[in-house]
Amino acid sequence: MAINKQQVRTALTHVMHPQMEKDVVSLDMIEDLIVQDQFITFTIDLPEKDTKLEAQLKEECEEAIRKFVDKDAVLDINTAVNISKFRDQGEDGEPAFPGQGHRDKREQEDDEDEEVLSGVKNIIAVASGKGGVGKSTVAVNLACGLARTGAKVGLLDTDIYGPSIPTMMDAHGRPNITTKKKLIPKEKHGVRFLSMGMLVDPDQAMIWRGPMVTSAVKQFMNEVEWGELDYMVLDLPPGTGDIQLTLVQTVPLTGAVIVSTPQNVALDDARKGVAMFKKVNVPVLGMVENMAYFIPEDMPDKKYYIFGKHGVRNLAERMGTNFLGEIPLEQKVRESSDEGKPIVLGDLETVSAQKFVELSNNVIQQLAIRNKEQEPTEKIDIKIRP
Ligand SMILES: Nc1ncnc2c1ncn2[C@@H]1O[C@H](COP(=O)(O)OP(=O)(O)OP(=O)(O)O)[C@@H](O)[C@H]1O
Ligand SMILES: [Mg+2]
Repeated sequence: MAINKQQVRTALTHVMHPQMEKDVVSLDMIEDLIVQDQFITFTIDLPEKDTKLEAQLKEECEEAIRKFVDKDAVLDINTAVNISKFRDQGEDGEPAFPGQGHRDKREQEDDEDEEVLSGVKNIIAVASGKGGVGKSTVAVNLACGLARTGAKVGLLDTDIYGPSIPTMMDAHGRPNITTKKKLIPKEKHGVRFLSMGMLVDPDQAMIWRGPMVTSAVKQFMNEVEWGELDYMVLDLPPGTGDIQLTLVQTVPLTGAVIVSTPQNVALDDARKGVAMFKKVNVPVLGMVENMAYFIPEDMPDKKYYIFGKHGVRNLAERMGTNFLGEIPLEQKVRESSDEGKPIVLGDLETVSAQKFVELSNNVIQQLAIRNKEQEPTEKIDIKIRP
């Protein structure tokens, strides 16, 4: 039976604030409640940072939902400090909440965020500005190319609106769940992977908003048994809107790979992609020129520059960004994607397969340089009110 918001709110009236003798719903502490199939996400607003109270309320909210709503619900409960919301509630100038204003600043700064994907050494986002330029194709072949080197690799399709990875890796259906309620990634070609589309009804996904996507991504990060990974590749949805911006700030990305085709309409959007990552201080590892030239199957020595020549290579140079390689437009790339056998895994007889191997090696090299020269990326938890 589908869960509705009212059931969740009613369940949460059983959770009492320990000092206020009122429940969290009456105290107007619950915000951004979103219910989607078995996903339930909301934020508990607090007048100030208090790690102990946050942990206690989160636990009690979870218990209440499991008891009164659905014991198997997939939960993402966040906490946020919202000083202004509670400021005016107290009478006679007293703080509305006991303890409010009593913790000094250093104490608050000591509160650490929970770590996202702590067993993963490098998290790489594959992005583009424009849709359909080959992000998913590059993400899948990059992941499999990295796995060819013997590395432990994960791949997460964050495109809930048009997931491609289930087809490209030939694995459909819902993932299994461990006894501890963690999702088990699918595994194929030496890559552990999941697609958010495996758990979301595509019709429902159309109405998802930024905060829902973000909380679902967090869940796919934290509530999946990824294990130890050398590389995690994220396939992002097309564009540079709110969802992408929120996504790239939810995860401490090591770096981004921008995919584009060489024609101007795609390049304009690729430039926006690079700018988005720079704005949020995520290093851009470099750009990939996909569909750089067409190689006909019956004339493998020919190259036709259908979308223009060296457009991405030149843009990368102008923007002071690395050029990671060019992938030709070849029928076998598309066919292997549709069959769920990424081309990079074959015997490397096609130019594309060889180019994907080169691309993976260049990404490994750029990651090594980046990790030597720069500090790890910090996660910024921004809050969007729908
Ligand atoms: N180098 C290539 N040669 C041949 N076909 C390709 C190549 N790159 C991508 N394609 C094909 O083009 C189509 C679009 O590619 P893909 O799905 O990877 O793009 P995308 O950028 O992920 O799209 P979206 O923006 O919808 O997520 C697919 O059918 C794919 O097989
Ligand atoms: Mg895609």
